[in-house]
Amino acid sequence: MIIVRSADELRSAITGPVSFVPTMGALHAGHASLIRLASADGSCVVVSDFVNPSQFGEGEDFESYPRDLDGDAAIAERAGAHILYAPDVGEIYPPDFSTTIDPGPLAQELCGAHRPGHFAGVATVVVRLFGLVGPRRAIFGRKDYQQLAILQRVTKDLALGIEIVGAPTIRDADGLALSSRNAYLSAAERSQAVVIPQALQHAAEAYAEGQRDGVVLAEIGRKALDGVTLEYLEVRSTDLGPYDPALPAVLLLAGHVGTTRLIDNIVLDPTAPERAATQISTKEYA
Ligand code: PAJ
Repeated sequence: MIIVRSADELRSAITGPVSFVPTMGALHAGHASLIRLASADGSCVVVSDFVNPSQFGEGEDFESYPRDLDGDAAIAERAGAHILYAPDVGEIYPPDFSTTIDPGPLAQELCGAHRPGHFAGVATVVVRLFGLVGPRRAIFGRKDYQQLAILQRVTKDLALGIEIVGAPTIRDADGLALSSRNAYLSAAERSQAVVIPQALQHAAEAYAEGQRDGVVLAEIGRKALDGVTLEYLEVRSTDLGPYDPALPAVLLLAGHVGTTRLIDNIVLDPTAPERAATQISTKEYA
């Protein structure tokens, strides 16, 4: 694997059709699973490592976001990356940069309602990275379910001709979804955070037993979220439109444990049930 800093170096390092995994670094086994998936078809795997300032709001954690290029390089290489692209801010946002991509109404809902401008920042950086990297396909985690839906929308609307692949959520042994932000949690908060996947799991079990009332499903989750300051907990259709009890759905939540903002979701699909609060071995992916 080689580490490149500039678009010129990147272009000369690319050896064939690219599978692309955009990240903000602080890589963990969740990112590694995306990289493994990207490398499965033998394509040239590019991982970007860029903490994107335009997707952080004022007072959010842009400054304190964990940065560890050496650690990232080790994880990316082990997972099968060929190129780690770690540009600086000036490379992604030159001084005369002036475009912002507005992904439309979905960007105002759920996380977007609590993080104004966040998804415009995500869409703008991802489309710019797509332009610089020129991938055939790009892999994103379903852990950031709304982000994935928005990037599918943007890619389709702008006819970018890139296949967007969604990958399963990788969890710690107790069910907590891996996240770079878990590093902010104190030991006590980390123990507390387990109620998040447990709450999703309770609701999913009720769904599996036939409960189809969206308000009741959300209430079952809400009751189990002791110690979490909830931003939202909502049942939606899998395309994030309004919940239709006759169709597969997704239960999404965002909330704070202490000062750390965490998100998670679980797909409610009678034919393909997802589990949140059981052990999924991170070893398989690390
Ligand atoms: P980041 O939070 O670093 O996540 C990079 C990718 O890893 C995203 O597609 C995210 O969904 C995925 N991911 C994170 N945790 C995961 C887990 N536990 N299991 C599976 N996949 C997981 O998302 C971003 O960066 C940024 O918004 C980005 C798209 C790079 C634009 O700046």
